[in-house]
Amino acid sequence: MNAIEYIESHRDANLAELVEFLRIPSISTKSEHKPDVERAAQWVAAKLRGQFETVEIIPTPRHPLVYAESAQTPGKPTVLFYGHYDVQPSEPDKLWTTPAFEPTVRGGNLYGRGTADDKGQVHIHLAAFEALKKTAGRLPVNVKVIIEGEEEIGGESIKAYVREHKAKLKADVVVVSDTSMLAPGVPSVTYGLRGLNYYQLELTGAAQDLHSGTFGGAVPNPLTILSELFAKLHDKNFRVTVPGFYQDVVAISKAERKALHSLPWKLSEFKKTVGAPALCGEQGFSAVEQVWCRPTLELNGMWGGYTGEGAKTVIPSKAWAKFSTRLVPNQRPERIAKLVEKHIRKLLPKTVTCKFTVLSTGKPWVAPYTHPFFEAAHEALEKGFGRKAVFIREGGSIPFVTDMHDAFKIPCILMGFGLPDENAHAPDEHISLENYFSGIKAAAHFYQELARA
Ligand code: BES
Ligand code: MN
Ligand code: MN
Repeated sequence: MNAIEYIESHRDANLAELVEFLRIPSISTKSEHKPDVERAAQWVAAKLRGQFETVEIIPTPRHPLVYAESAQTPGKPTVLFYGHYDVQPSEPDKLWTTPAFEPTVRGGNLYGRGTADDKGQVHIHLAAFEALKKTAGRLPVNVKVIIEGEEEIGGESIKAYVREHKAKLKADVVVVSDTSMLAPGVPSVTYGLRGLNYYQLELTGAAQDLHSGTFGGAVPNPLTILSELFAKLHDKNFRVTVPGFYQDVVAISKAERKALHSLPWKLSEFKKTVGAPALCGEQGFSAVEQVWCRPTLELNGMWGGYTGEGAKTVIPSKAWAKFSTRLVPNQRPERIAKLVEKHIRKLLPKTVTCKFTVLSTGKPWVAPYTHPFFEAAHEALEKGFGRKAVFIREGGSIPFVTDMHDAFKIPCILMGFGLPDENAHAPDEHISLENYFSGIKAAAHFYQELARA
């Protein structure tokens, strides 16, 4: 039996195993789920032990890294496969058709938190490794695997680990499956991601909450001030008003613009996925340019005051906001954080004090896709999906990719098996079973192709 036949005959077994992985609520941001995060790391390590000579669970200040290594093919390239076993919180839970951590098949899709982002995609490679190892006795190339548990919270531990263990992680190519295909039936390799800075703001007015009858009219309201502040951070053309924000942004070249616009990317599909009455965005750029190639500032959450049942007449003492900036080449995350803080402090009135916190920073990544390893990926995706692959950029962020690219200057191949409408981070997250099964085949082909590249 060859690897592809093995994969074909293990469809049910693979799916059952993925379901087991998905049942572990490894939500990295919540401390009450620390034991589940731990359990997911153990699960990944146990799975890798079947195929790799060395498997380690590496403790970090927050959540463990899982590392594995197989070096049985001297003279062949060394691949570093990266993924994450942590997931986003499932709330609002009542909007899920079936519970987030009880994976369910419906209409050709597998539903559950982590199906697309990223456990399903990690499992595609785990299943491919198994098929290759079981049918050939060894993997076709040297493989290092690193799976982290903090991707969804900024990836601080793996960043430090890469810095301190360069020799150990050294590879000829990085492969990641944590992105999306352009559309159903269109296998895709992503060559650009945006960077992400995440911020929190706390405004304080009065020393404590106040009766709005006794005090209203004469005292500052931090919630109102916060709303005014965010209203001022974009102009009428949806450009970010922070001075210097666009200064280092590399313009989209004519050639790239042409390539992007010849992709089978459909505005009508995008609109359908969004489901809003109308779209908006930075003037002068198409929607696909806005989400892939342009920087943004987004308000992610705002709270304070009374939000419970009925009414409560109060002037809150404090108001909070969480917001983020997506970054593109050549914006520098630290510089952008400084510019944003400076502008916000300048806009705020003297009536409130402001605590400004940068929760995480991350650089953008865009790289050429000319190395022969990309041909291997192209070939493998065509074999797995029966269709030619396209090269795309995406708007999301994976801090590890930039860290690795900076550290080693090696090709990073992002072959995503998700779809843009699969509700990553949202209720009813799912993965297409067809993409999951074709993905396993494409991954197996890819490792075989690399041995020839
Ligand atoms: N898998 C996503 C990244 C992604 C999303 C890539 C969409 C391409 C398209 C990843 O798990 C993620 O959600 N990353 C975070 C960043 C992180 C620093 C919290 C993101 O993009 O918001
Ligand atoms: Mn992800
Ligand atoms: Mn994610």
